[in-house]
Amino acid sequence: MADKPIKGLADVVAASTALSDIDGKAGLLFYRGYDIHDLAGRTTFEETAHLLQHGTLPNRDQLAEYGAELVRGRTLGSLVEQNVVEIAEKQEPMEALRTLLSLTSADDPDKDSNAADANLRKAARLTALQPILVARFHAARRGVEAPEPDPDQSIAANFLRQVTGKEPTPREVEIFDECLVLHADHTMNASTFAARVCAATLSDMHSAVVAAIGTLKGPLHGGANEQVMRTLETIDPSGVAEAVRAKLAGGEKIMGFGHRVYKTEDPRATHLRRMSEELGEASGDDTYYRMSKEMEEVVFAEKGLYPNVDFYAATVYHFLGIPTDLFTPVFSVSRMAGWTAHVIEQHADNRLIRPDSEYIGARDQKWIHIDER
Ligand code: ACO
Repeated sequence: MADKPIKGLADVVAASTALSDIDGKAGLLFYRGYDIHDLAGRTTFEETAHLLQHGTLPNRDQLAEYGAELVRGRTLGSLVEQNVVEIAEKQEPMEALRTLLSLTSADDPDKDSNAADANLRKAARLTALQPILVARFHAARRGVEAPEPDPDQSIAANFLRQVTGKEPTPREVEIFDECLVLHADHTMNASTFAARVCAATLSDMHSAVVAAIGTLKGPLHGGANEQVMRTLETIDPSGVAEAVRAKLAGGEKIMGFGHRVYKTEDPRATHLRRMSEELGEASGDDTYYRMSKEMEEVVFAEKGLYPNVDFYAATVYHFLGIPTDLFTPVFSVSRMAGWTAHVIEQHADNRLIRPDSEYIGARDQKWIHIDER
């Protein structure tokens, strides 16, 4: 038996992928060989999703074709339409999304096929559907109608308009689009791994993505961005350093810091910090940005930990007017591009994922009749 129980699969290479790559020491992230620093702010989310799912950055014709496919894919099925109001009343956002996404499979014409062409069509539909599901859930829980998505606008523009109820500025759309690009894929993170394990049983793409949504929900993964905002909201702006030190002294983890793979700055955080600063200044009240900067300094000084993707994403989404409990759903809107691409990759060259475990329980137990226990 190992000295310590085996936990967490750290440093275990669990799959081969051509989708994304991380250099944790240098703080680099690549999507299909493109440095995230080259893609962020220059490539739209739609181009990024095409890159992940189809393998190439699209030319104009390919992008137009993919964009049309996304627009067609936005139609919610009857099960969603019939149930969204009750689901929105009874379920929290990530629970609701897990349910709603699962319901969409009923109306997907390719639901029973894992063939490459069917998977590509489903990937586009799921990428198109996820932002609409979030917007429809949010509208339903407020008892209002979500504005119809505009077929001539991007996923980022439509999402902001549908969720905030306001026409976003072009710069806000650019910034949100960049957020979607930054979150689109990230090697064998927990939710992607969950999706691949599910897909490797030759289960279908919808099932794999539902597993991923359930996994993203946890506060150690996608749920951290919401927790970051809750922390900022509960700390006194004039006592940030003291509050952070007290949390650390009490053994609390500070959400939005630390990473299994990056041992230096998460390259996505570099962009998100800049966006948070810009939006904070533009809003006329950059308190949360300044508090975040101070938190970053204290956590680094005390623990040597860097902010991860979730830390500055929280204030960016806040400044964009997105409700705090939709931060993790926003993550899922973007990561849908990566999850679906990983399912395509898994199905293309499948082998069941079935690791072993180290048994640490009792041995040589003697069976005793129930009346004698
Ligand atoms: N705050 C305080 N201490 C921390 C933090 C943190 N955010 N993260 C790690 N540590 C400490 C741990 O307490 C532990 O200390 P110890 O060795 O004295 O016990 C040490 O650093 C190693 O931490 P682990 O949790 O074992 O590291 P692991 O690689 O398993 O976890 C994780 C990585 C889950 C991201 C962790 O850093 C964490 O819980 N962070 C907060 C949650 C968060 O922000 N999650 C989002 C991650 S990014 C994403 O999923 C999109």
